[in-house]
Amino acid sequence: MASIPLPPASRPISDQTRVHIDLGERSYDILIGGGLLVADSFAGLPKSSKALIVTNTTVGPLYTAKLRAALAPHHKTVLDIELPDGEQYKDWPALNQIFTRLLEEAADRKTVLYALGGGVIGDMTGFAAACYMRGVPFVQVPTTLLSQVDSSVGGKTAINHPAGKNMIGAFYQPQRVICDLDTLDTLPQNELLAGLAEVIKYGPIADADFLSWLEAHMDKLLARDRAALMHAVKRSCEIKAWVVGQDEKESGLRAILNFGHTFGHAIEAGMGYGQWLHGEAVGCGMVMASDLSARLGLIDEATSLRICALIERTGLPVKGPDLGADRYIELMQVDKKAEGGEIRFVVVGPLGQAGMKPAPDAMVRDVIAAHTR
Ligand code: NAD
Ligand code: GLY
Repeated sequence: MASIPLPPASRPISDQTRVHIDLGERSYDILIGGGLLVADSFAGLPKSSKALIVTNTTVGPLYTAKLRAALAPHHKTVLDIELPDGEQYKDWPALNQIFTRLLEEAADRKTVLYALGGGVIGDMTGFAAACYMRGVPFVQVPTTLLSQVDSSVGGKTAINHPAGKNMIGAFYQPQRVICDLDTLDTLPQNELLAGLAEVIKYGPIADADFLSWLEAHMDKLLARDRAALMHAVKRSCEIKAWVVGQDEKESGLRAILNFGHTFGHAIEAGMGYGQWLHGEAVGCGMVMASDLSARLGLIDEATSLRICALIERTGLPVKGPDLGADRYIELMQVDKKAEGGEIRFVVVGPLGQAGMKPAPDAMVRDVIAAHTR
């Protein structure tokens, strides 16, 4: 199991703070706080005449004008494109709309892309930036809790394939991440819960103290208390930045960030993208992965139940859809962590540490049976 000598949790000293992600020449800052959609937040980024804001039909009407005003001092022309909203549109046709717009506008290789939205927009914009003219700069402006604590950080970019989630993509780091907590004010509650699933993830895999903090502050987080959200986003980003700094391209350690995702991706693909929110599927997947960790003897049952209880307290679903064990297993075999058809699960043990292990087929089937309906 990976034992992580994490940096100690730091307390934000004001209503704005930053986390640095150390990747040599690809290093960058994550800015976290309220009121960040202003020109100062974007100072010092690559200069270009043109910029393209990529957003969707939900987020665009809420925040494009504000971002456009913040970018005006930095670019002569700020274009925008609104893609359809939904996980089911994280696909080739939507990606191609970005390329078409860039080509129609004769965007050159200095053009900066700004991803304004949740993880779907962030992942697609990052992939578009990685591909267009073999690479143009991009900046993440995540507007969901999930994207602020996870998807905007670390450079994983992708689109889905009907046969597998996030299967077509690239590692491509942004120039900066701007997490404006004000944008969370308009986030629907079920999307906040989906983000909390990815926040909870960091406790079991890397920081048992953070798990205790989450247990003590869950009511505040559910009520969107600003100080609690600030700490949750900052600690999540610190842990993710540390892990990615050790293993940018997931040759080992980074896989622990996929706790619950093997089961979760099977739920998402098996139900059809967009039926279950990604965070909902991950929450339920963590219930299964915690149980599996206990059955493998890596944590005791009480610890597994403790993790599950926190997930349940948020209101996230803790029972997966009954796709049938065969279908779950078939879908999990195309998971990126699988090797030669053998499924490898991220498991916890002891609490605050994680690693990857295969599990006996009968045990996996028992876990699926215990947590689906
Ligand atoms: P999402 O991007 O679909 O956003 C959720 C919903 O909230 C959408 O309807 C969106 O339009 C809306 N929305 C976004 N911001 C809003 C705001 N401020 N106010 C009101 N509505 C708002 O979903 P998500 O949960 O942000 O991201 C999920 C995606 O992230 C999945 O595709 C997943 O695979 C990906 N992901 C990637 C990584 C990574 O490392 N790259 C990590 C985790 C998840
Ligand atoms: N969300 C998993 C990762 O970034 O590696």
